[in-house]
Amino acid sequence: MKKRVRGFSKLSKGSKIEWLSAHYFDHADRAREILEQYWNADEKLQRLHDEFAENTLSNFYMPFCVAPNFLIDGAAYALPMVTEESSVVAAAAKTALYWRDRGGFQTQVLGLKKVGQVHFLYHGDSDKLKAFFDRNQDRFLKATADLTQNMRARGGGITLLDLLDKSDLEPDYYQIFAQFNTVSAMGANFINSCLEELARTLKREVQQSPVFTAEEKDIEVIMCIVSNYTPECLVRAEVCCPVAQLTDVPGLSPLEFAEKFQRGVRLAQVEPYRAVTHNKGIMNGVDAVVIATGNDFRAVEAAAHAYAARDGQYRSLTQVDIRDGQFRFGLDLPLSVGTVGGLTSTHPLVKLALDTLGNPSAPDLMGIAAAAGLAQNFAAVRALVTTGIQRGHMKLHLSNILNQVEVAEEERGFFVNYFKDKAVSYATVRQVLDHLRRLADEGFIRWFFTR
Ligand code: MEV
Repeated sequence: MKKRVRGFSKLSKGSKIEWLSAHYFDHADRAREILEQYWNADEKLQRLHDEFAENTLSNFYMPFCVAPNFLIDGAAYALPMVTEESSVVAAAAKTALYWRDRGGFQTQVLGLKKVGQVHFLYHGDSDKLKAFFDRNQDRFLKATADLTQNMRARGGGITLLDLLDKSDLEPDYYQIFAQFNTVSAMGANFINSCLEELARTLKREVQQSPVFTAEEKDIEVIMCIVSNYTPECLVRAEVCCPVAQLTDVPGLSPLEFAEKFQRGVRLAQVEPYRAVTHNKGIMNGVDAVVIATGNDFRAVEAAAHAYAARDGQYRSLTQVDIRDGQFRFGLDLPLSVGTVGGLTSTHPLVKLALDTLGNPSAPDLMGIAAAAGLAQNFAAVRALVTTGIQRGHMKLHLSNILNQVEVAEEERGFFVNYFKDKAVSYATVRQVLDHLRRLADEGFIRWFFTR
């Protein structure tokens, strides 16, 4: 009870830190020190970041990386990627180079439709409501005309309005099901504003109409909200080359590799435990680009996983086809992203990321992010069916382990060398380090292993 606080959001940043330190830390000064250590020296920039979210106390760094050598639809890209997982960018960069020599990535936007719903309760004649809605569609479009004006000028807007009877799912449940084209905006705010206006219009029009009974006029709007499930805002990314070009795989002929790789992907088509990890690997690449470009990775994740389960079983988002001597590897991904609005115009690193990509349109960014996902999946499955994942993964993780056990800069080279032909693990690093430090303490080796 002592930790209960009112009006916290109205306190100054300093007072918020003081409160947190006093209530949650034995060493309050240390907590404050860590939080302040991450403040930006440029006050204006810090203020900008403070205002992105409520109750900001500090900044949380994530590595902003770049994966060069991507060839996507014939254009060369260095992909900005934000990720904390050490092997992700290395894998993307390696795969980018591999496929650059084999024609690069091809992408295709298969749809740009986004969905929003007005969920409401209606107690009455279903056919009457449907006929009324269809007859008066222009009133709904007119009511939202101010809101959609700019979007329409750019070629987007509301592209479909439908009234759906969902009372088989829930008593008296109906929906206005709306589709939108939000051009280069992610569009959630735009869609939500339109939906709230559609809901107001529905209530007003039904109330004013003489065709409805008093009970029918009593429409109860439950909620108006964009759907993050975007199966028709879909992008395809592919790589393709003659099987014979699948070289550089130690111990396997190109055809053996192609077939083993295909089998690896097929397991994720048929087995959900494997599929989830497989798709997680795809999202390692997609999310990294989505975050770097200031987009909503939770929305992208939710849509991807729902799409992966669209036939009732959770499956791989990628597929492999080997036919007529050609190896074709592709990914279909629902991807609702924007390149205007939101963080894209306020966050300096997001702007830089978009600049790096040549300021793409939203459909272009869909292709780029999907290519990153496909590259990531290629790297993961290739490693899994050949050397195993831990070799590359743990090599890159080594520097994190060395940080964890506080190995000094001068000692690192030794460990990198030591693990060249051995499996990396925290326990081994610890063991070797303790041993070296003991030898150093006893004067058998050079000083830098002592502390
Ligand atoms: C690790 O972040 C991702 C992988 O597990 C993906 C996969 O198993 O395909 C390597």
